[in-house]
Amino acid sequence: MSAIELPEKLAAAIRGFQPSRVLLTALELDVFGQIGEGATAAELALRIQTEPRATEMLLNAAVSLGALEKRQDRFLPAPFNESFTGARRTGLLHSVNLWTAWGHLTESVRTGRPAVLAEIGDRDETWQKAFIAAMENSAIERAPQVAEAAGPEPVGRMLDVGGGSAAYSIAFARKHPRLHATVFDLPEILPLTARYIEAAGMRERIGTVAGDLRRDTLGEGFDLVLLSAICHMLNEADNIDLLKRCRGALRRGGRIIIQEFILDAAKTGPASAALFSLNMLVGTQGGAAYSENEYTAWLRVAGFSDVVLHPLPPPTALLFATAV
Ligand SMILES: C[S@@+](CC[C@H](N)C(=O)[O-])C[C@H]1O[C@@H](n2cnc3c(N)ncnc32)[C@H](O)[C@@H]1O
Repeated sequence: MSAIELPEKLAAAIRGFQPSRVLLTALELDVFGQIGEGATAAELALRIQTEPRATEMLLNAAVSLGALEKRQDRFLPAPFNESFTGARRTGLLHSVNLWTAWGHLTESVRTGRPAVLAEIGDRDETWQKAFIAAMENSAIERAPQVAEAAGPEPVGRMLDVGGGSAAYSIAFARKHPRLHATVFDLPEILPLTARYIEAAGMRERIGTVAGDLRRDTLGEGFDLVLLSAICHMLNEADNIDLLKRCRGALRRGGRIIIQEFILDAAKTGPASAALFSLNMLVGTQGGAAYSENEYTAWLRVAGFSDVVLHPLPPPTALLFATAV
């Protein structure tokens, strides 16, 4: 009897940590920032304080993945090298922190919680900076798409709950010249938020409020509340509670927009959302990815109607609803 072969896709997935680790180590060592116009392995090893033979092996592997180029014995930056340097690198380094959390996945599946639970506000400054830079990286292209998807009707007052780098408030403010936004976030994060607002020249139109989205009231009279990448941090009961407080912050007829990784009804796809759910298992107390049906039910309970799903380029989608 011939054995059934393990599908190549699964065999490759078992080894999938190797390319990931090559890129994360190259980022940690700032290979892409220090390579300049090009360097031999020995020259680069000197610059980044590493062992030359090991450095050459790492660089060769990075070339094999397409992250660098090589001519004779010189390693050269790829055309997109800037995406690996500066603020973009800071954001990518968040994946190094995720790697550490994912290393405990087996334990988390056994216990149902993260191996190390630290609230975002309790993390050190380097972790927080990488986290918010990672949010900014993913928002650069998506924020204008979300503002566009929200339609042309003018918006006066917007509340951006857990607004992070303020990328979404900035995109909405650029689209709606009369809009004033409030970014609500943790007091430990708001100094970072303020830098992004300042850099965008939006200090006059985007304010900040410090608070805890798990329990605080969120204000009132807003035309629009945005929950971008927030609901996945919370369990079902906390999401319903947050949505009720968002309803309280909106004027009647105002709208809520939720941006999320949204699972299909069976919760087995898309893969990006199913995997993201585990990202929440290893990183949060009770967070997960949820389905459209779950969001719709919670929104109705919280006092919203007309729930509409609006697809975006993967991996996230939007849900719109109106405050009754
Ligand atoms: C996944 S990030 C999303 C950031 C932003 N909305 C975006 O989509 O780019 C989650 C945000 O929620 C904030 N946050 C987490 N826990 C919070 C809490 N208990 N109260 C207020 N903000 C919180 C974080 O600081 C962070 O800015």
